Amino acid sequence: MSTKNLTHSSHIQLANSINKDHIARSLEHLAKISDPAFGTTGVTRLAYSDTDIKGKNYIAELMTQAGLEVKVSPIGNTIGRLKGSKCDEFAVISGSHTDSVINGGHFDGIVGVICAIEALRVLQQVKDDLIHPIEVIDFAMEESARFGLSLLGSKAFMGEVSGENSLLLQDNQGVSVAEALKNVETLKYFKNENNKSFDSSIKRALWAVEESKADVKKIRAYVELHVEQAGFLEEAKIPIGIVDGAAMPTRWAIQIIGEQAHSGTTPMECRKNALVAASEFVLLVDKICKDEASHDTVGAITKMAVEPNAMNVVPGKCSMFLDLRSADKESKDRVKNILLKKLDEICSKYGVTHSRKVISEDGPKTFSSDIMAISQKACENLGLKYMVMPSRAGHDACTVSNHIKEVGMIFVPSKGGVSHHHEEWTDIDDIVLGTKILLLTLLELATTK
Ligand code: GLV
Ligand code: MN
Ligand code: MN
Repeated sequence: MSTKNLTHSSHIQLANSINKDHIARSLEHLAKISDPAFGTTGVTRLAYSDTDIKGKNYIAELMTQAGLEVKVSPIGNTIGRLKGSKCDEFAVISGSHTDSVINGGHFDGIVGVICAIEALRVLQQVKDDLIHPIEVIDFAMEESARFGLSLLGSKAFMGEVSGENSLLLQDNQGVSVAEALKNVETLKYFKNENNKSFDSSIKRALWAVEESKADVKKIRAYVELHVEQAGFLEEAKIPIGIVDGAAMPTRWAIQIIGEQAHSGTTPMECRKNALVAASEFVLLVDKICKDEASHDTVGAITKMAVEPNAMNVVPGKCSMFLDLRSADKESKDRVKNILLKKLDEICSKYGVTHSRKVISEDGPKTFSSDIMAISQKACENLGLKYMVMPSRAGHDACTVSNHIKEVGMIFVPSKGGVSHHHEEWTDIDDIVLGTKILLLTLLELATTK
């Protein structure tokens, strides 16, 4: 990959025509689309909910206004395409997500989608110079907040979803991914071209996964702009992060099975209290991860349900989710081995049993040094300071990097490092700077062989 075009003053001019008001208005508009069932604190657009669909319809509208050709794949990925006039293959892709956690912020994922649309709106001006088309993708279900499973849209796009297991996972209301997925049909730009009909939601979901696969060989490169979600850029007063890799999660669903009993009449020595065993495990995860702090390994039990959850009953069952992350594979493996051994020990100590299901098992990712060099050069040309840094969160870029080498990410600062919280904040001026670097990186990739 060359960097031959990067110093063109016309390219710098294009970067400087990114419209701050467009971006700010779109961010504000999307932030108002939030599920009222979760109150008015922050933004809630859980994957495949009606609110998520509303948000995605708004994104499709923005894509149309930017002059992009819009289509929605059956898994719910919304794709806007700017055609290269000299070649319609080997697309340069920029993507992220607009679904959210519960009571989240205005920026996680959203910045990557809205700013890529703005960059492509500007790049319409040079579409005759493109030798590769550029696409922006709002990937479906990046967040694991609803089903415990993340990155479904990008995994389906890259052909990584196999079998029924992930599609059968359920939310707190007992709705499965496969059932929720049907809501994609209500997206304004969704077309069921062959008028397919199915006698079960799982068959339909398997079809949606299959139909949403991209031809990986036809992807030239992928670049994602995202908020940092940590505080390193702000602390160093640096506006741009060039991401060299990412930590990825190991996620387990664990069930501790004890014995439901009368909480007044059952003698203490006869109890098989599932919650007591689970509680010891919660503390253990915290301790073991703190012991691995020098390797930046982090982990927690992030979700727990107690059954029957009643005042006068000794808990018979406890279901919990473990989210364990590290960019250091050896450290993560060490933690996993300790947790497995200790889980057995804790269960036998309290006379309970357990079952465990692996929801995700992803290793650390390394991004392309060629794309990093292009983004670094773009920063130098605009006179911007940058920092090379890893990502501690998972992103759609990580899925893409399992299949192609040419993947890059650009970070903009998060105030106080706050994210997955309603106070998540990034200054609009920093977002504009990130969009300029994104535009220059995409332009370079779309105008060179
Ligand atoms: C993304 O939101 C993650 O959980 O890393
Ligand atoms: Mn997130
Ligand atoms: Mn995100």
